[in-house]
Amino acid sequence: MSIASYPNLRMRRTRASSWSRAMHRETQLTPADLIWPLFVTEGSSVEEPVGSLPGVSRWSVDLIAVRAREAVSLGIPCLALFPNTQPDRRSEDGAEALNPDNLMCRAIKAVRDACGGEIGILTDVALDPYTSHGQDGLLDDAGYVANDDTVAVLVDQAINQAAAGADIVAPSDMMDGRVRAIRMALEMNGHANVQIMAYSAKYASAFYGPFRDAVGSGGLLKGDKKSYQMDPANGDEALREIALDIVEGADSVMVKPGLAYLDIIWRAKQRFEVPVFAYQVSGEYALIEAGAAAGVAEREALVMEKLIAFKRAGCAGVLTYHAPLAARALNG
Ligand code: PBG
Repeated sequence: MSIASYPNLRMRRTRASSWSRAMHRETQLTPADLIWPLFVTEGSSVEEPVGSLPGVSRWSVDLIAVRAREAVSLGIPCLALFPNTQPDRRSEDGAEALNPDNLMCRAIKAVRDACGGEIGILTDVALDPYTSHGQDGLLDDAGYVANDDTVAVLVDQAINQAAAGADIVAPSDMMDGRVRAIRMALEMNGHANVQIMAYSAKYASAFYGPFRDAVGSGGLLKGDKKSYQMDPANGDEALREIALDIVEGADSVMVKPGLAYLDIIWRAKQRFEVPVFAYQVSGEYALIEAGAAAGVAEREALVMEKLIAFKRAGCAGVLTYHAPLAARALNG
């Protein structure tokens, strides 16, 4: 790095005017950097606000299609869908995940009908929206989430979603070996172009609470997910997870939650030079909303500052519930 000294170098020179700041800006945020997570519920013409996520609702399948059109018009390239499965369709084994006519599959088809190939559809591969116990996988007799039995079901779930029209399957379960198993099954079942975005470094975080309300798994969950999600104290371990998922066939990897893990994003991008995405999770969204409501700062300023931080850290894009707000702001 070249070191000059004052007054030859006055760092404030390039900051003195708006045009100069624009010219020297190192990172750009555009609507194409945003992935919009949406919650789906049964019924038609239904909007159910999620209490713990002010401004976020669950939408029935017909209205998900309307949101998808909105996303296209805002320049948002991809949606992430999450179902709030009816209580009577949740079970010990989460079998509803494999139903070709489940809420998720109907939502995928509705988005495809409404938007054709104009928008990407990312689907979550994990069993928690379908199990009566709220864990992401199958429990053995001791109540431990059984790895290999769970992977076998996740493979079928991913194929079910791909057959319905998902463009990107995103395993968020943190089972070992699931990316390889899903990749092989996609190849063998005629879905060679379906991408895998692996939730590679997913931490056992306190920031997921509002999401669990939104998909209706929060009240069901006993205990925690620490036997599969990562310890927030670990960084090297995240790189091992990411390395594994790349070798197993992930097209892109994800770090989750977002803001508290920018170091992981940075290390992953520097080390592997693959597309790294961040999930700015529900608790992060709720904190911004609470801060804005409390008068900490203006909402849009908080949102944009946090999103540009992900880009600066090396992200290819961000899953954020603020996607439509941010896209509107960026589109002027
Ligand atoms: C579960 C899943 C979670 C999120 C996405 N997929 C929650 C969890 O692991 O309990 C969290 C997203 C958010 O908080 O916004 N497979």
